[in-house]
Parts: sequence; C-alpha cells; structure tokens
Amino acid sequence: MSRPVDPLADPHAHLSAETLRRGDSIKWRQHPEGVIPLWIADMDFPVAAPVLDAVRARLDSAIGYPVSDAPELKAAIARHLARSGLSGLRAGNIALTPSVVPGIYASVNALSAPGEAVVLLTPVYHPFHMAITELGRRPLGVPLLDTPEGYRVDWEALEAACAQSRLLLLCHPHNPTGRVWTPEELERLRDLAVKYDLFVMSDELHADLRYEGRAFESFAADPRVQARTVTVTGPCKAFNTAGLGIGAMISHDADLVARVRGAAGGLMGHPAALSLTMWQAALDHGQPWLEETVAYLQGNRDFISNYLREKLPWVRFHPVESTYLAWLDLRAHPRAADMHAFLLQEAQVALNDGPMFAPEAQKPLYQGFVRLNFATSRALLTEALERMRVALAHP
Ligand SMILES: Cc1ncc(COP(=O)(O)O)c(C=O)c1O
Repeated sequence: MSRPVDPLADPHAHLSAETLRRGDSIKWRQHPEGVIPLWIADMDFPVAAPVLDAVRARLDSAIGYPVSDAPELKAAIARHLARSGLSGLRAGNIALTPSVVPGIYASVNALSAPGEAVVLLTPVYHPFHMAITELGRRPLGVPLLDTPEGYRVDWEALEAACAQSRLLLLCHPHNPTGRVWTPEELERLRDLAVKYDLFVMSDELHADLRYEGRAFESFAADPRVQARTVTVTGPCKAFNTAGLGIGAMISHDADLVARVRGAAGGLMGHPAALSLTMWQAALDHGQPWLEETVAYLQGNRDFISNYLREKLPWVRFHPVESTYLAWLDLRAHPRAADMHAFLLQEAQVALNDGPMFAPEAQKPLYQGFVRLNFATSRALLTEALERMRVALAHP
C-alpha cells in the first residue's frame, strides 16, 4: 500500500484543521469542531499565487461596471475551449454568468417547457435534478450501470428516456462518478441527440481536472450537435475559486446562447469585476499550479484506492478519471440505511449522502453511497479514512 507522502515533500503538509476553520468556508464551518469535512466540492489548498496577485492588483483600479462583453476574457476562454474541440467561438457564442449553476437553471428554463420530461444520468450533481423539479419539469433519471470496468451508460434505458424528452442534461466529466465520457460514448450520445431532436446542456466544469493525462473532448466538439448544445463551464473547480463565482454558457449557435440568457432575464445579474480578473489570470498564468494540483490529487485518488483495497475491500469504488470526488458504495455494510449520519456521528467525518444525487424516484438506489471530496492534504485524508475504518468495524 502506498505510504502517506513525505511531509517534507508534501506541499500541503502544513494544512491544519484549525487554520482551515478560521475562514468562512462552509465546508469547515458546517459541522462541530473535530469533524473532518470532506463534502462540498472545493479544495483545501490555497489559490494559485499569480491568480491571487492579479485579484489583489485589480483592487488598485476602479471597480465600476466592467466592459460588458469582457472581450479579452472571452478570447481567452475561446482559446482554452478550442483545446477540447470547441473551436471558432466568438464573443457572441459566450455569455458570462455569475456562476455555473444559473446556467444550468437557465438552460432547463429555456430548452424545455413546464410538465415536460428532462433526461439525466444518475447519480448526478444535485442541482441538475433540482433545476428540473423546481422549474416544474419532470426528471427522467437513467441510472448508470456499475460494471467491473466502472460506471457505464445503460443505452437501452437512455434511448427510451430520450424518446420522451426534448432536453438531455449531461455532466462531462461526471460528478459524482468521475467518468470522462469516451469519444465512443460521446458519439452514441450525439446520435441520440440527433435522432430524438434533443437540446443538450453539457456541464463541463470539471474538464481540467483529469488524471493520467486522459484526453478530453467536449460534447459539442462535433458540428452535428453544435446548434443544439449549450456547454456550461467556469474556473471554480480547476482553480479552486468557488467563492469568486463566475461561469459561462457557450454555444456555436449565438441565437441559442441569447435564448438561454434571455430565459433568465434580469435575474441573471452580471459577473463581478474581481471574478473576471480571476478567471483571466487563471487561464493566462494558472497552468503550472493546475498541473501540480492535479498530480497531488491523483496521488490522493491512488491513496484512497489502495487504502480501500487493502483495508476495506468490501467497499466498491471505481477510481475516478476526473474530479476530486470519490463515489463510494458502502451498501454491504449493516448501517447502509443511515451511512452518512453513521459516519458523521461515529467517525466524525462529514461526506455527502448518496441519495442527494438523484431525483425523488431514484433516491433509494443510492442509499448506502457517499461522496468523499479528496482535495485535502494527504494527512487529513489519511486521518479521515482511518476514522472511517474504525467506525465501520463497529456498526
Ligand atoms: C458539475 C458541476 N456543475 C456546477 C457546479 C457549481 O458551479 P458554481 O459554483 O460555479 O455554480 C459544481 C460544483 O460542484 C459541479 O460539480
């Protein structure tokens, strides 16, 4: 089993629960002192120095309304997205949003009608199904299949769902299973979108956090689906800037962007000047930090895999291809029915509860699953896994 990293070589060895609790992090402040929080998806690591420098420098200039079209930032976003196949984007193809979630809600609002079914692959990032139900649509959840090779799409069930809908919500890479959909899977998804004349909202927020140098292709990289797809993304996962919310809705069809943007009307607001600066700096200067961070996260992911294989072999876990979120299946445990509460109480580890990642009808399928955020120091992660192991041994 891999050993915890050498504290002298570990750039995050200095992270301490005491320091992390001092700020206003909801992750660290939600639970009593003593609990190790590995739930909501932000990282315990400090933001890249060049990004912080740019944000500090921004405070020295005026903070009036910024140029509304943010042309430099949009050009940088377009250059970045071209690397995953979204080429030729111009300013009119990109609408900035105050964070990514409003783009999800606006897409559901604009691209489906009340009462209609909206398709999604479960388990999935909870605002997907919340947007559908809160906006009066019907979530048609298609459970992913757990195979020896990892989570896979149930194509037959997905096709049956697509036949009843006009909108598919895709999470690529997929939160919480960590799948990066392969070119072959993307082709089949695109075939379905074309065959059933669907709009697609593809949330690609985690795309820059990929392990083993895995390639990434945007869903809308294929011209066949560009006019029916809205891609949403932002800097907050890769660069750990969730508190400086900003995001973007993108389509090769500028009219589609305008339609989705219009569905939110004046409720959308505009992004903050500091956030524009932050995203620009992250794209221009954040790459070395990102590469180091991904390497560290990959080490944490491997540490979890090895730990589980050696000490908790009955826990099902498919090592994630992207994201810093581990989707753990603990249904074999006697306390599966209240696993989240059990681990919080007995291990003093706060995770996300499986059922939250599914609409009402599918919640029971995910009882006994938890999502663990491993974007913390190796020492805190080790302590959390040890606490879980001891608690799980005494149900
Ligand atoms: C797939 C996905 N989309 C959107 C978000 C939230 O993005 P934002 O905070 O920019 O609204 C998250 C956060 O975890 C996420 O995992």
